[in-house]
Amino acid sequence: MTEAIGYERVGDIAVLAAQNPPVNALGHAVRQGLVDGIAKATADGAKAVLIYGEGSTFFAGADIREFGQTPKEPHLPDVCNAIEAAPMIVVSALHGTALGGGMEIALSTHYRIAVPKARMGLPEVNLGLIPGATGTQRLPRLIGVEKAIDIVTSGRQLGARDLLAMGVIDKIADGSPREIGLAYAQELLDAAAPRRPVSEMPAPEPIDFDAAYEATLKKGRGLLAPAYGVRAVQAACEKPFAEGVAYERSLFRELMETDQRQGMIHAFFSERQVSKLPELKGVDPRPLAAIGVIGGGTMGAGIATAALLSGLNVVLVEMSPEAAAAAKDRVSGNLSGALKRGRIDQAKFEHLTETALTPTTDFGDLKDVDLVVEAVFENMDVKKEVFGKLDAVCKPGAVLASNTSYLDIDEIAASTSRPADVIGLHFFSPAHVMKLLEVVVADKTAPDVMATGFDLGKKLGKVSVRAGVCDGFIGNRILSKYRTAADHMILDGASPYAIDKAITDFGFAMGPFAVADLAGLDIGYMTRKRLAPTRDPRERVSTYADKLVEAGHKGQKTGKGYYDYAAGSRAAAPNPEVMELIEAERAELGITPRDFTEAEIVRRYMAAMVNEGAKVVGEGIARRPLDVDMTFLFGYGFPRYRGGPLKWADMEGLPALLADIKEYAKEDPYFWQPAPLLEQLVAEGRTFDDLNKEAA
Ligand code: 3HC
Ligand code: NAI
Repeated sequence: MTEAIGYERVGDIAVLAAQNPPVNALGHAVRQGLVDGIAKATADGAKAVLIYGEGSTFFAGADIREFGQTPKEPHLPDVCNAIEAAPMIVVSALHGTALGGGMEIALSTHYRIAVPKARMGLPEVNLGLIPGATGTQRLPRLIGVEKAIDIVTSGRQLGARDLLAMGVIDKIADGSPREIGLAYAQELLDAAAPRRPVSEMPAPEPIDFDAAYEATLKKGRGLLAPAYGVRAVQAACEKPFAEGVAYERSLFRELMETDQRQGMIHAFFSERQVSKLPELKGVDPRPLAAIGVIGGGTMGAGIATAALLSGLNVVLVEMSPEAAAAAKDRVSGNLSGALKRGRIDQAKFEHLTETALTPTTDFGDLKDVDLVVEAVFENMDVKKEVFGKLDAVCKPGAVLASNTSYLDIDEIAASTSRPADVIGLHFFSPAHVMKLLEVVVADKTAPDVMATGFDLGKKLGKVSVRAGVCDGFIGNRILSKYRTAADHMILDGASPYAIDKAITDFGFAMGPFAVADLAGLDIGYMTRKRLAPTRDPRERVSTYADKLVEAGHKGQKTGKGYYDYAAGSRAAAPNPEVMELIEAERAELGITPRDFTEAEIVRRYMAAMVNEGAKVVGEGIARRPLDVDMTFLFGYGFPRYRGGPLKWADMEGLPALLADIKEYAKEDPYFWQPAPLLEQLVAEGRTFDDLNKEAA
């Protein structure tokens, strides 16, 4: 026996208790312990075996940290089969989250009981994999193909009630997993219940697997794993159990070798790493119960909604009673979405809109709040005036935050008497939906103010990334570079539509021009005007987009932008005026347009993103490459299975990417200045991920 599995006899029952904190991952010692435990129970003459997990959960899956290393025997499918093949009844008692390999172990036992709050699922697709330890063969035998495909391809977790209704588990009971498991095993022994191996159940009825495969592939936007999951379930219908298991394993191994698996696992760990910063160690956040939001427009209303849904009281300050009423309507509109989806009930809706939310025009109402997020117009003078008022009314120790997209937080902080309390909290639109929060730390921001920013992010269910002060912080600064690269390609011959197609084919949720239409073209317009006075004369600037806005086309909100949104439809056709403006500009500049392949579009677009990402890390605006990656995954629709721009760059190979940037620089040396950090990594033969590891 290994230490990871405790063994004990309770009467006729041998008890195998997993002891591998924090989540009882099925690492080598656990797998070996389970096989040894079954052998010992057999040698002991036990009449039943109970398997459960000590601590917070049943097995939460294979040990992801072992992926990529040579797997050590016993392999998980063999462990599952050894459990099922035990000569006595085997019972599992579930609590916490029986995920992936954990669910597969449970399916290999003969009977399953769970506490009411237990959850189960096969989340392997979220790691770019499929279940690799008999799950795709046992689950369809137990619950049929359609439900099994849903669970395997979605990766979603199911609660105990649903699991019971589907027949995945046999019973729900209150108590500790040990207590309920022992009682259930005894009950089964008393009733002389037989062994019940799922693998011996009849093969499930087939469906149209080709159609299911195609639909799943399409839905995955390039992610292979869910579609492979369909094929694995198909094998459960068409092959004997052992052959199905071998086929499942071969698909699992194939996926294990892909970049997609690497990208997804990078995302899994980075998501957990992103809020772990040395600066935050041992620093307690300030208390947070009530917050203020200044400005109830698009962003302010979204931020207020997110805060209310997380249980915070919100004082929402607007300029006039009419604007305050409109802001309240916006928040109510957002919350009615949550009501419709069943996230809150009517009583909660009324409580949030009528009691927890205080719309007002009086800054004095902010005197008791712990933190304020300013979301007024993007104008430095307006922001300074607001911060002056906040400085006068807020209690000592209140955190004063700005949601500015681009403006200098140091300058805003300097306009108050308490710059240490000032921070940037940059939400993304719609703020109650988008997961990203950039916590922008200014020169004088106090450590516990930064900790409070992260704490707010956690309370709101956001992924918070630390950013330093610069124009656009991490995300928008990088965005402005790859957008410029796209504009340059347009001047040289690509169309916005070809670029959008290439970028969505790459896996982004939307292309940059469709995104611009959604956000409003006036935003980019105003940014370009703001930056114009300080623009370097060497910069290559296009003007067709300005002309589009000046012609009144601001995107979806005006019905036309790059696309034509006839009658409010989102399924838009290209707006013909766009190509006319572009062609006119090319003619004016004497450019003969050339063809761009999809691959070249992606390469240049990504090279610009990676190069600026490397600058952002090199300058310390982002502390680590993974901060850039998480910004893009959670704020910019970057395909998760590619890990993030810098993880993508590592997998593409940094030397080749740098060589391409140098090649592009021959045409436009001002725009394509290689990032010093990228040059350094290539010279030293290192990767961005090496920097992540050094910072861990
Ligand atoms: N392997 C290794 N480490 C794991 C792990 C796993 N399967 N699951 C979680 N951890 C680690 C986390 O990295 C974290 O480590 P840290 O403290 O050093 O950052 C720690 O355990 C706690 O995890 P969380 O912070 O995520 O804790 P939560 O309580 O919020 O969530 C959880 C717990 C729901 C279990 C969540 O961690 C989770 O979803 N884990 C992944 C589960 C999963 O994907 N399982 C399938 C694995 S693949 C598989 O089983 C293949 C098989 O089919 C062959
Ligand atoms: P908006 O124009 O929709 O809303 C601004 C609101 O602020 C208006 O309702 C206005 O009445 C109110 N306001 C203006 N001055 C005020 C004052 N002195 N006191 C009280 N209320 C005042 O603007 P939006 O889009 O919500 O943007 C707000 C801020 O958020 C800007 O700084 C913007 O850069 C930033 N931001 C915007 C994003 C977006 O996608 N729209 C994304 C992230 C940040």
